[in-house]
Amino acid sequence: MNFSSLAAVVLCAGKGTRMSSARAKVLHPLLGKPMGGYPISRALEVGASNVVVVVGHQSDEVKQVLRQVFPTQPLSFALQAPQHGTGHAVGCAEAALAEFRGAVLILSGDVPLLTRQTLQLLIEAYRASSGPLALLSFRPPDPTGYGRIVREGGRAKKIVEHRDASQAERKIDEVNAGVYLADAEFLFKAVKTLSPRNAQGELYLTDIVAQASEVAVVEAPAEEIAGVNDRAQLAALTKLLQQRINLAHMKAGVSMVSPETTFIDEGVEIGADTVLGPMVTLRDGSRLGREVTVGQGCVVTRSVIGDGVELKPYSVLDEAQVGARSFIGPFARLRPGSELAEGVHLGNFVETKKTKVGKGSKANHLAYLGDAVIGEGCNIGAGVITCNYDGVNKYVTTIGDRVFVGTDSQLVAPVTLGNDTFIAAGTTVTEDVPAGALTLSRPPQVNKEGWTERRRKVLDGMKKK
Ligand code: UD1
Ligand code: CA
Repeated sequence: MNFSSLAAVVLCAGKGTRMSSARAKVLHPLLGKPMGGYPISRALEVGASNVVVVVGHQSDEVKQVLRQVFPTQPLSFALQAPQHGTGHAVGCAEAALAEFRGAVLILSGDVPLLTRQTLQLLIEAYRASSGPLALLSFRPPDPTGYGRIVREGGRAKKIVEHRDASQAERKIDEVNAGVYLADAEFLFKAVKTLSPRNAQGELYLTDIVAQASEVAVVEAPAEEIAGVNDRAQLAALTKLLQQRINLAHMKAGVSMVSPETTFIDEGVEIGADTVLGPMVTLRDGSRLGREVTVGQGCVVTRSVIGDGVELKPYSVLDEAQVGARSFIGPFARLRPGSELAEGVHLGNFVETKKTKVGKGSKANHLAYLGDAVIGEGCNIGAGVITCNYDGVNKYVTTIGDRVFVGTDSQLVAPVTLGNDTFIAAGTTVTEDVPAGALTLSRPPQVNKEGWTERRRKVLDGMKKK
C-alpha cells in the first residue's frame, strides 16, 4: 500500500455524558495533560505530518486548550456538529486532508494509554498487507458494548456493534479498539457510502471494514485500549499511567522513595541517580539533572534543575532554572523567571520572581527577591525585600558582586547596589549605592536610662487615685 506519508484524525467531538461535567471529556487531565492530548502526542511520535482533531461538543474550548498544549505542532481542527457517529466524524475531517495522499491513522480522544509501540505494530501490519485498512483489536474481560470482529476463515470480514449483534456474534470476545490505519482515498470514499440503518441511527466508521479487500488486524494489550467514560475510569487510568511513567524512570536510574505518591507528567526528563522523596510532583516539561535530591512534597513545573541540586521539602518551583549544586528550601518558592547560577542557596520562605541570582550567592531566610539581578558571592540577609512595585509599575533592583545586604533591609527599586557594597541591617535603600560603600539609613539609637522604673512609678500613682 501507499505509505509515503502519514496523517492522523483524532476523534474528540463526543460529549462524554457520564463524566457529569461542564467540561468536554477530552479536556479532563491525566497527570497534567488533557486526555485528548495523549493520542495527539502518539500520532506525532509515529510521524504524522498533520493531525486533524475532530471537535464538536465545546469545540471552541477544546480547540483553545489543545492549541496551548501543542503550540507549534501541525494540528488542525475539523468541526463535527451535530454528531452523527464515528463514520460521520471521519467524513468531517476530509476537507482538512483534501491534498493529502497516504495513510490516515484514526484515534479516539478518550483512549489515552495507547502506546507508540502498539501503533508501530499497526503501521508495520498495514505496510505488510495488500489491503487498504489495518486496525487494532483486543480482548477485554467483558466485551459488552464493544464492536465485535467477525471473522470468516480467520480473516476479519466486518465489525458488528454490540447493539446490532446477534446472540452468536455477542459471544465473540475479540473486539474493535477503535484505532485504524487506512489509505486516505479508500477511507474517504468508504465513509461516503455509510448508512445510519443501525440500532443507534448513526454513521458507523466500523462499516468500512466490510468494504476493504483485506483487513490487517493487530491484537493490542487490553490495558492500552481502556477508554475513559466516567471519573472512576479517569482515576484508574491516571494511576496506570503514573505507574508506567514511574517505572520507566526507575529503570533509567531514578530512585523513588514512594512511587505511588510520585506524580510525573509524561515528557519530564530526569537524570540518573536522582532521588525523589514522597509526594513529589514534577510537571509539564521539567528537566532534572543527575544526582538531584527532591525532598518530600516539592512541586516542580516547567523548570530546569541542574546536576547535584538539593530541593529540600515543600519547595515550589514554577518556570525556574536552578544551577548545578544549588540548595533550595525547605519551603522556598521560585516563581517564573527565576534563574539561579551554580551553587546558589535559597533557604526557607524565600520567594523569587523574574530574578537572576549569581554563582554562590545566598539568601537563606525569609526574603522576597522580585525583578532583581543579583551578582556572584552575595549574602542577602533574613527579611530582605525588593520593593519592586509602586502599585502601577514594576522596577528592577540591580545588585553587584560580593554584596552584603543586612537583615530586614528594603531595596526600593529602581535601585543599584555596586560591587562590594555593605548594607547595614534595617536600611531602606532608596538611592544607588556606589561600589565599596557602607550604607545605613537608621536613625541614631537613643537610650533613656531608668525609663522603665520611672514609668512604673507614674502608672502606680495613677492606680492609687
Ligand atoms: C466505538 C466503535 C466500537 C469500538 C469502540 C471502542 C463505532 C461505531 N464503534 O464505539 O466498534 O469497539 O469504539 O472504544 O465506531 N465521536 C465523535 N463523533 C461522533 C461520535 C463519536 O467524534 O459523532 C468520538 C468520541 O468522542 C470518541 C470516539 O469517537 O472519542 C468513539 O466514540 P464512542 O461513541 O465512544 O464509540 P463507541 O460507541 O464506544
Ligand atoms: Ca456511540
